[in-house]
Amino acid sequence: MQFPGQYNRRMPRIAVVVFAAVLAAAPACAQDAIRLVEQAKKRWAESPHGPMLERILPPTFELHQLPERGSRGARLVIRYCVQCHNLPNPAMHHAAKWPAIFERMVVRMRGKGNLGELMQDMMAGVEAPSVDEAGVLLAYLQKYSQRPLDPNKYPAVNLPEGQSFKLACQQCHVLPDPQRHKASEWPAVVARMEKNMEWMNRVVGNQPDPREIQLKVEEINAFLVKYARKG
Ligand code: HEC
Ligand code: HEC
Repeated sequence: MQFPGQYNRRMPRIAVVVFAAVLAAAPACAQDAIRLVEQAKKRWAESPHGPMLERILPPTFELHQLPERGSRGARLVIRYCVQCHNLPNPAMHHAAKWPAIFERMVVRMRGKGNLGELMQDMMAGVEAPSVDEAGVLLAYLQKYSQRPLDPNKYPAVNLPEGQSFKLACQQCHVLPDPQRHKASEWPAVVARMEKNMEWMNRVVGNQPDPREIQLKVEEINAFLVKYARKG
């Protein structure tokens, strides 16, 4: 993967300025967590693989959004899961999907992953969770995971009205249950997903790939709003 040099040089400086502002505003108890994240970001920002790692997960999910933030699970996510990429959201994947992904990450943290060679230079500072911590971490990810859409409950997903949603929204994770959000909430989630798609698929400054499927945001929102949680 190739990234424009300008993006490469500017990003860390912006991150440092934002970090300073965030740290100054945060209460003392949150400062440790923010420091841990920042240390990790600095590590991968300085790695030659930084630009690739930075694109693995989008920067849309922030520390304060972690569910049950003071819990051991949340603290372990902050400690271990931002060492190579942005903070993962437990709600990205459904419970059945997490064990395999988690296992892949743990193997990597132990320096034995398929990217082990490639990332050797930054592996020196990477920590792996103990067996006990790994259990807590996985349980936490599963507890706050995505609820998948049940096609028996929403047969419309297989009709034309569900087609755009189905096409666009299962590229990175399972189709989410429309009841996860209220009608008033869905458009903002879909807009964030649009940003996620740009972040994860596309290089800054590049022309959009004409082969990419046009994202039919209006049709997607119409479907989700129709079957959203009431009240
Ligand atoms: C040693 C570096 C490293 C650490 C630490 C790490 N990851 Fe990853 N992660 C990667 C790499 C490299 C990828 C991209 C390749 C892949 O998907 O396996 C990735 C991808 C991901 C993805 C996207 C893949 C998908 O299938 O959706 C998720 C989610 C993820 N990591 C979650 C986590 C969680 C949760 C933790 C903490 C338990 C974690 N990662 C810790 C290196 C790491
Ligand atoms: C390019 C990959 C990608 C695609 C495509 C994608 N998502 Fe996501 N999705 C993510 C990531 C990354 C997260 C976790 C970070 C976040 O919440 O922004 C996530 C999390 C979610 C969540 C859980 C968080 C929440 O706020 O409820 C929902 C629901 C969701 N996506 C819905 C959708 C919908 C609807 C679409 C189709 C418009 C979609 N996703 C398409 C990457 C993607």
